[in-house]
Amino acid sequence: MSPARGEMERVLIPGWSSCPALAEGLGKVEAYLEEQLSTGHSLISDAVLSLLQAGGKRIRPALVLASGMFGRGYSASLVPIAAAIEIVHMATLIHDDIIDDADTRRGVRTIHARYGADVAVFTGDYLFTRAFQILSGYASQDMLSSVARAVQEVCEGEIEQYEARHSTSVCFGQYLRRIRQKTAMLFGLSCYAGAIAAEAPGATADALRRFGMHLGIAFQIVDDILDLSADSAATGKPAGHDFVCGVYTLPVIYALGSDRWGEELRDLLVGPNGAGGGAGGAQSQSEDRGRIIERERILEIVRESGALGRASKVAERYAARARRCLAPLPGGAGKDILTGILASAVHRSN
Ligand code: IPE
Ligand code: IPE
Ligand code: MG
Ligand code: MG
Repeated sequence: MSPARGEMERVLIPGWSSCPALAEGLGKVEAYLEEQLSTGHSLISDAVLSLLQAGGKRIRPALVLASGMFGRGYSASLVPIAAAIEIVHMATLIHDDIIDDADTRRGVRTIHARYGADVAVFTGDYLFTRAFQILSGYASQDMLSSVARAVQEVCEGEIEQYEARHSTSVCFGQYLRRIRQKTAMLFGLSCYAGAIAAEAPGATADALRRFGMHLGIAFQIVDDILDLSADSAATGKPAGHDFVCGVYTLPVIYALGSDRWGEELRDLLVGPNGAGGGAGGAQSQSEDRGRIIERERILEIVRESGALGRASKVAERYAARARRCLAPLPGGAGKDILTGILASAVHRSN
């Protein structure tokens, strides 16, 4: 079994291989991705294929295929659309890892850690272009415009997050807007695109888009919780990395608002040792030790303040909203798969 297949067991859908239509569709998407991303240019090919073959949950292609089941069902035309959305996602990950200075992704070294930021920038750009090239052969003008809009929203979400770095006054509303843009839009688009490409009724496609948006919000909140609570072996990404980069996510926002812990946490995040800053760079050993102790204390405060549990409840609330969007839609394999994805998106460990 190739490493790619082994890693694919991480796909976030319980029993996905027992749903023949989904398993077949995801297999085709995988083969299509390999084919489309094996370019004549060995540097780009090596970089991109290492990320592709390292695994990933393939949740967005699964959303495209499952949403297609509300229309004509699985058809070969869904494969390029699902693949193009995964390629867009991969491009955003590559650029996100430069911004976050992350050295691990999907359990392997990031492209910028292996090849440098220059290669990572043009590899990400290359992937955006490939995605639109693929879509231009299969998607309507409206669909192209929806994908372009989603990419624009992801960029705006990332820029907004960048501008808000190290601000301890970031509030729930700002956080929510940011995660809607950087994550939920692409989830919503995946559902909508699958439904429209399979000629599902317009009202169904709209309900699926809303489902995807709520799912995406819950998914990102859980991702942010995992950054503070899971180890990197489980997620395949560096642990406790968000606040180190000055990105204060929902659990940190809640802990900052706590009467008992807020002040201490604020001091730790912006204090002289700057535990919340300074990823990378030359530091003395005693500065390093100071930072490690402060990071441990920040994690302890977030845990003890109950902020992880509060954030988890918000994720559950968005999951419940997503479930309500699905409720009126006709039953069948598509609905079962989306229900399964939703449940495991909220109760996952990677
Ligand atoms: C990571 O997305 C970026 C977020 C939106 C949190 P995934 O968790 O879907 O990443 P892969 O594709 O499984 O690696
Ligand atoms: C999601 O945010 C990134 C994108 C939508 C591109 P994160 O920064 O939390 O994603 P991870 O944790 O690096 O996967
Ligand atoms: Mg990141
Ligand atoms: Mg994250």
